[in-house]
Amino acid sequence: MDLRFRDVEPTEEERAAVDALLGPPASAWEGGPRTDADLRVAARAERSRDLLLPALHAVNDRVGWVSEGALDYICRRLTVPPAEAYGVASFYSLLSLEPRPARVLHVCTDLACQARGGDEVRRRVEERLGPPGEGWQPSPCLGLCERAPAALALEAGETPRATVYGPATAAEPAAHDETDGPVTDGPVTDGPVTDGPVASGPVASGPVTGWRDEETCEPAAEAAVPQAGRPELVLLRRIGVVDPASLDDYRAHGGYAALRRALRLGPAGVIREVLESGLVGRGGAAFPTGRKWDATARRPDHPHYLVCNADESEPGTFKDRVLMEGDPYALVEAMTVAAYATGCAKGYLYIRGEYPRATRRLEHAIATARARGLLGGDILGHGFSFDIELRRGAGAYICGEETAIFNSIEGYRGEPRSKPPFPVEKGLFGKPTVVNNVETLVNVLPILEHGAQAYAAVGTKESTGTKLFCVSGTVDKPGVYELPFGATLRDLLDLARPVGTLRAVLLGGAAGAFVTDPDVPLTFEGTRQAGATLGSGVVLVLNDTVDLKAILLRIAEFFRDESCGQCVPCRVGTVRQEEALHRLSGRVDQRDLLLLREVGRTMRDASICGLGQTAWNAVESAIDRLGVYS
Ligand SMILES: Cc1cc2nc3c(=O)[nH]c(=O)nc-3n(C[C@H](O)[C@H](O)[C@H](O)COP(=O)(O)O)c2cc1C
Ligand code: SF4
Repeated sequence: MDLRFRDVEPTEEERAAVDALLGPPASAWEGGPRTDADLRVAARAERSRDLLLPALHAVNDRVGWVSEGALDYICRRLTVPPAEAYGVASFYSLLSLEPRPARVLHVCTDLACQARGGDEVRRRVEERLGPPGEGWQPSPCLGLCERAPAALALEAGETPRATVYGPATAAEPAAHDETDGPVTDGPVTDGPVTDGPVASGPVASGPVTGWRDEETCEPAAEAAVPQAGRPELVLLRRIGVVDPASLDDYRAHGGYAALRRALRLGPAGVIREVLESGLVGRGGAAFPTGRKWDATARRPDHPHYLVCNADESEPGTFKDRVLMEGDPYALVEAMTVAAYATGCAKGYLYIRGEYPRATRRLEHAIATARARGLLGGDILGHGFSFDIELRRGAGAYICGEETAIFNSIEGYRGEPRSKPPFPVEKGLFGKPTVVNNVETLVNVLPILEHGAQAYAAVGTKESTGTKLFCVSGTVDKPGVYELPFGATLRDLLDLARPVGTLRAVLLGGAAGAFVTDPDVPLTFEGTRQAGATLGSGVVLVLNDTVDLKAILLRIAEFFRDESCGQCVPCRVGTVRQEEALHRLSGRVDQRDLLLLREVGRTMRDASICGLGQTAWNAVESAIDRLGVYS
C-alpha cells in the first residue's frame, strides 16, 4: 500500500505543526525513504490512528487548511491510508481541504439567531465579504444562543485565535475583518489565571490547542446565568461565585468533597448512591445513569473507558458550555468520581470545536488537577489512577451521538455504529465504555455531597433533582436557568420574560417538538405526555413576529447538512423533507404534506440513529399543532 497522494511534500510550517503534536519522526517509515527494517515499525505506528483528528487540527490551526502535502505527511506519520484520512478530513466542517484565508468568520444561521436578527447579520456580512466560502461561512448553532445573533472568528497561526461576537451587530464581525482592530463586544471580565505555575513537567497527556487566553473579550460566563448567585441553585451554584481558573478557590467553595466521599464509599457504594438518586442522563436519551455505571463496572474485560460528551451541538443548547466555562473543576472532579466508580483509568473529554473558552479553561483545570495530584497516579493516596485527555470536535453535530463519538476519537469518520453492542459492552476501542453528558456528570457531585435521598427529594418520582434549561429566542432574559423538575413551562417563562405575543415554544431543540401549552410540566414524563421531549433542555421561545416557515426550513436544512449519509432513510429523507418544505413555503399542496408524513415515518422507523429518527419531529408538531401550512 502506498501512503502517498502524489509525493507532495508538506511545507515547513505544516511539518512543524504535526511534529509539535507527534514529536519528530522516529523512523524513516514516518518521514523519509523506507527500508525493509522500517516495516517493523508499522505495526506500532498503527496504534496512533486515534491521533488523526488532533493532527488534522494541528495543521488546520496553524495554516488555516490542510493541503495534500500535509495530509500525506500525517498519513505517513500515523500509517493511515490516504483515502481514509481524506474521508475523515472531509467529514468535518471546521477543517478545510482547500486553501482559504487564515481568518474565517462563522456566522450562526441557526434557530435562536434567526429569531433575533441573524439573517440581517448574515446579509451584511455577505455584502462586505462576498459570497460564503471566502473568509466567512454560515454556521450551524454556535452554542451562543443567549447572545444571539452570534458569530465566531477562528484565525489560524502559530498561536491560533478565536473571537466571539455576541450579540453581533449587523456590521461588526465583518468590520473587524477590515480594520483588524480589537473586539470589544463586552467587558473584559474574564479573570486572570491565578493558580500559579501548574506543573514542572509536561502538563498535558493529550493534544492541546494553544489558543491564546488573552483573546477573551467575552462577557463572563455568569452573564449567561440570570439566576447567578441565588441560594437555591445546585448545579449552577458556583457560576459567577468561583474563580474558574483557581483550584484553590474551587476547593474553598466545596470542591473535591464529593470525590473524598466517593473514595470513602468505594466504587460499589458510589454506584448505589447514583442508582438510588434516580439520576437519568441529561444528554437527551434520559437513560438511568446508575444502571449504565453498574453495567460497565461489572464488565470483566479491561480497560474500561469514560467519555464525557461535551459536543453540545443541538441547536439552542448552551448549558454545558456555561458549566464548563464557569465551573470547569466541577467537571474534572465529576469525571474522576465516575471513573472511580466504573473502573476507568482513562477518560476522554470530547468538546465541540466551536467552544474555545471552555476548551482553554478545561485544559488549564486538567493540567492543574494533574499537577496537584488530583489526576494521574494514586489520587489522594487511594491507589486509584485516572487521567483525562481532552479531544476537540471539528464541526459535526452527529459526533455527539454516543457511538459516533467513539469513531471520531479513534480517527475514523464520525458515523454512528449499529447497536447492539451497546457502549457498556463494546465502546471506545472495543472496550466497555461509559458515555455521559456534562450536566449528567456534574449532578453526581450534589448526590455524593448530600446523599441520594436528599437529591431524590427534589423533583418528581420519575424526574429527580434539578434541570438546566437553555432559554433563547424572543425573551427579555435569555440564558441558562436551573429549576427543580416539576416546574412548568409557565414558571420558566415568567423568569425569562417573553417579548410580544407568544406563538409557540420549541422544546428539545431541532430534534424536539413545538408546544403551545404553558402549563406543560418540565419533567421527562410530563413532556412525554404532551407529545414532546425535554431533549437537551432547549426552550426556544417564538413570538408571532417570527417566520415559522423559515424556522422549519432551517431545521430541515440542518438535518440535511448534518446527516452522516450512512443510511438511506435519513440520507434521502432529510433531502426530500427540505425540498417539500421549500415548495410548501411558496404554495401549499396537500401532496407535499402527505409526502412529508410518509418520509417522516420512514426516517423515524428505519434510520440507524437518533438523528434520522427525530428529524421529522419538529416539522410534524408544527404542522399538527401550529397549523403552519393550513
Ligand atoms: C444526533 C445526536 C446528537 C447527540 N448529541 C449529543 C451531545 O451533543 N451531547 C450529549 O451529551 N449527548 C448527545 N446525544 C446523546 C448521546 O447519544 C448519549 O445518549 C448521551 O451522551 C449519553 O449521556 P447521558 O446518559 O449522560 O445523557 C446525541 C444523540 C444523537 C442521536
Ligand atoms: S440516521 Fe442519519 S445520521 Fe444516523 S447513521 Fe443514519 S444517515 Fe447517519
